Amino acid sequence: MENPFFYGTTVSGKSFTNRQKEIKEIVGDLKSGQNLFIYSPRRYGKTSLIKVVLEKLKKERFATIYLDFYQIYSKERFIDLYSRAIANAVNSKIEKLIDFFKRNVRNVIPSITIEEDGKPKLQLEYSNRKGNIYKLLEDVYQLPQKLAVEKKKKVVVVFDEFQEAKNLNGDQFGKELRANIQHHEKISYVFMGSKTHILLNMFNDKNSAFYKIGKMIYLNKLPKKDLVSFILKRFREGSYKISVDTTEEICNITKNHPYYVQMICHEIWEICSDNKEVEKRDLNIASDRIIKNQSELYLRIWDSLSIHQKELLIALINSGGESIFSKAYRENNKLPIASTVNKCISALIAKEIVEKNKGIYEVPDMFFAKWLENNIV
Ligand SMILES: Nc1ncnc2c1ncn2[C@@H]1O[C@H](COP(=O)(O)OP(=O)(O)OP(=O)(O)O)[C@@H](O)[C@H]1O
Ligand SMILES: [Mg+2]
Repeated sequence: MENPFFYGTTVSGKSFTNRQKEIKEIVGDLKSGQNLFIYSPRRYGKTSLIKVVLEKLKKERFATIYLDFYQIYSKERFIDLYSRAIANAVNSKIEKLIDFFKRNVRNVIPSITIEEDGKPKLQLEYSNRKGNIYKLLEDVYQLPQKLAVEKKKKVVVVFDEFQEAKNLNGDQFGKELRANIQHHEKISYVFMGSKTHILLNMFNDKNSAFYKIGKMIYLNKLPKKDLVSFILKRFREGSYKISVDTTEEICNITKNHPYYVQMICHEIWEICSDNKEVEKRDLNIASDRIIKNQSELYLRIWDSLSIHQKELLIALINSGGESIFSKAYRENNKLPIASTVNKCISALIAKEIVEKNKGIYEVPDMFFAKWLENNIV
């Protein structure tokens, strides 16, 4: 049996565990036409979750459109990728698709190309795209609504990593988008992302185009008991012996972080593949292996930090991440004045080295934290 633990890409099927409660809530919200704003720190499983939700909705005749803003660096690119995602959702014969785009987008030149596998694929070109960008955007924004009306379907549009939209001409893009989508009654929009501070500003700031645009959902880590049964099941399916106690220890080491759970389990699976018995000491071997494999990367991250950022990171490892601006904390850890600490913590958050969870600053990558403990502190 192949290693069933995956990390790095979105997971589905057997590699995706539970989240039944969240799936039920989100599916229910989307069925009722609610806009959503889903956020969490990095790698908690937002994309995996929404993809499972979209699959469920597809089975109930929803048209689903998914767009990842990490891939979008210009308005032109937005037009290309968004119209492609919409074309996928239309799910009609290619001639009908061409007709759909011709009727609904000015200056579009749809054509058919034949893929290597012999399948026809829709190609969308635009005449004088730069000169027509605003008209084009307006038309493309309306496409999901047109799709909903023509196909008599409910439509869900997901904008993943939506904080990146900020890079497209700042507020202007957001304002246009909001103005164009706010009357789309038949469509639920899901805005998702991981840079929580940027996203929360987008949602909570009265001047933001996305001020209170929908229901907010914070995605938590997976509950320990669900993770434990997931890990046990996968190992036992592969005829590995592993105790509940050892499994709980895996959750403790990784602080129930789904990504790191999968990472360490992947390694344990390999380490124990001969005797198929997992003991507690294998957890240390796996963890050391991960740290060794990542040490080059960790060194590079460390080298990229300023002296004050390094001091603050060490303080977080040594003293935890509570009340870091207080006089006592700064004095104990020989840190500079509070305003400098503030700048440093913002920089560490922007570099995704530190996260703020429930008011506490922490290093989410526990293997990096361990590397720091072993090599720096
Ligand atoms: N429900 C789940 N069950 C098991 N593992 C999961 C689950 N959700 C996420 N993971 C693990 O976490 C990793 C990250 O998942 P995913 O990419 O969906 O998270 P994300 O929150 O969208 O991340 P990012 O912030 O990088 O966009 C996956 O590769 C997988 O290893
Ligand atoms: Mg994601």
